[in-house]
Amino acid sequence: MSDIDIEAIKTSLDSEIEEAGTLAQLEELRIKYLGRKGIIAQLTSVIPTLPQEERRAFGQQVNDLKNKINSLLQDKQKTISSVPDKETSGPRIDMGMPGIVQDLGYLHPLTKVSEQICAIFTSMGFRVVEGPEIETEYNNFTGLNIPLEHPSRDAFDTFYLKTARASGEHLLLRSHTSPVQVRVMKSTRPPLAVVVPGRVYRPDAVDASHSFMFQQVEGLVVDKNIRFSDLKGVLEVFAKRVFGPDIKMRFRPHFFPFTEPSAEVDISCIICKGKGCSVCGRKGWLEILGAGMVHPSVFKAAGYDTVKYSGFAFGMGVERIAMLKYGIGDIRLFFENDLRFLRQF
Ligand code: DAH
Repeated sequence: MSDIDIEAIKTSLDSEIEEAGTLAQLEELRIKYLGRKGIIAQLTSVIPTLPQEERRAFGQQVNDLKNKINSLLQDKQKTISSVPDKETSGPRIDMGMPGIVQDLGYLHPLTKVSEQICAIFTSMGFRVVEGPEIETEYNNFTGLNIPLEHPSRDAFDTFYLKTARASGEHLLLRSHTSPVQVRVMKSTRPPLAVVVPGRVYRPDAVDASHSFMFQQVEGLVVDKNIRFSDLKGVLEVFAKRVFGPDIKMRFRPHFFPFTEPSAEVDISCIICKGKGCSVCGRKGWLEILGAGMVHPSVFKAAGYDTVKYSGFAFGMGVERIAMLKYGIGDIRLFFENDLRFLRQF
């Protein structure tokens, strides 16, 4: 018998096949065992040198070994091929690549400020209501005690629509949010406390402080025993929440057809703290809104009992509040859609 240990070759073959992890490594094993100068070729070349009676059995062993190698290589090849190759199969996603940043949407500064204003009032029990931007002449003027001869009814101060209601009543783009007072009073009974955000329109030439379209927030409170001091208290809470607790307020007598008495409300200048600067025109005060006690004629037009009920109303421009709050010098910046400006809020 030859001294070649075929069993030892089998054992080492087993572990080599076991360890092979790639097709390239399998090919190396194939050459090592089955190649022209491989182990099987060497073993075969030994056969003729053996004594006659051993050749047959040894030849058989070599043949068995060759078959075993072949089947092991085949099996292993199948297992390796069925494991998906990271580089060539599956979705072609490079997990290391930087992602595409999705832009987050954000609110327009005017929407933000308008919502902040409304939130301050809802925290005091007000309800938010809205009205249409196309209004009747009655709601915009007559129902608010604005007489025919009032200049704001002039075509130079209001956008009238060519089409009228079937009743012949003129329609217009509302020039303030006050007509929603008329709508609310027609549809609800006191007690009521509402704030009304919305767009308004005036045929003004556009400049740093004027726009043909802007936003207002209107307020209306009606109940028994509503007094001017209630108005002052509510507006003081509002001004301090928007502009800070150190702000001072003053009420200047003024005229509005729909309130009596009426006032314009100022806050101490947030820039110079009342000393006088270019922002407040050296006055030390900044006007922020108009207000007053609801005029009896407005109650009458709505069918409210003017003896039983009293109320206050106020109206402010959202752009103006936003410009003062953020120190913005030109109203046009709100409408130009320049993201460098809009992204700052
Ligand atoms: N509607 C007025 C305007 O657009 C603002 C205003 C003033 C509203 C006094 C009111 C008010 O409700 O009481 O100029």
